[in-house]
Amino acid sequence: MSDDLRGLPGHVAANREAWDRYATRYVEPGHRAWASDEPYWGIWGVRDSELHLLPDDLEGKSAIELGCGAGYVSAWLARRGARPVGIDNSPAQLESARRFQREFGIEFPLHLGNAEACPFPDASFDLAISEYGASLWADPYAWVPEAARLLRPGGRLIFLTIGVILQLCMEEREADDPAKTILRRPLFGMHRTIWPDDTAVEFHLPHGEWIRLLREHGFEIERLVEIQAPADAVDGTRYTHVTADWARQWPSEEAWIARKAG
Ligand SMILES: C[S@@+](CC[C@H](N)C(=O)[O-])C[C@H]1O[C@@H](n2cnc3c(N)ncnc32)[C@H](O)[C@@H]1O
Repeated sequence: MSDDLRGLPGHVAANREAWDRYATRYVEPGHRAWASDEPYWGIWGVRDSELHLLPDDLEGKSAIELGCGAGYVSAWLARRGARPVGIDNSPAQLESARRFQREFGIEFPLHLGNAEACPFPDASFDLAISEYGASLWADPYAWVPEAARLLRPGGRLIFLTIGVILQLCMEEREADDPAKTILRRPLFGMHRTIWPDDTAVEFHLPHGEWIRLLREHGFEIERLVEIQAPADAVDGTRYTHVTADWARQWPSEEAWIARKAG
């Protein structure tokens, strides 16, 4: 194990190595997202004007993106007047984000680190956001309390991840074995997943457990948005674990919006 991985929790070290490997695959889609003025979400690219995940008034708001990857969500926030900070566990992903910052002329602080233990004081942000970042790749029992610590009273947490029902319908995450219409794994006990032939660690929770965990850490849940693939969605995106036909019938992705009480 290299020196810079020593001292990290096992799943964080595994995910750093994995994301440094995956990063090149995320350059082109990251670039496309940076180039878009309108935010869009997830694997089907559903526009924010339809989903309304982002708050209307971002002007002057301080925001942290937990697992910012190539940084386009933070760039969208900055274009709407917010003051984002990105934290990510992968040096290679952050290198892409820095390149895009220079190309698009939008600068904001980027930190290498674990979203489960951020180097920022309590109550220093108005918004914490994660699109398939910490929301999928960090342990919710660590990153949710950390988000609660970082947010000011009244601050919002917005995160998007794989839909619970999709996770239940997949055995592997492979092109030749996309989600079926039968349950292939148990709901109870859902937490860590390592896919066959990979080393990265994902985290999933049943809805009841998300609700319990968020409320335990002082969040009021405002919305759970079950994202439907649009009528014109087609197969052949870079993601092959679910078909457009499946995702028009069941939520392949979900977004949670919660407000820190106070
Ligand atoms: C699918 S990307 C999501 C980011 C962004 N939406 C994008 O697509 O570029 C997942 C990111 O989560 C980061 N990540 C994984 N575990 C993390 C952790 N514990 N703390 C911070 N970032 C983490 C990875 O390094 C990766 O850049």
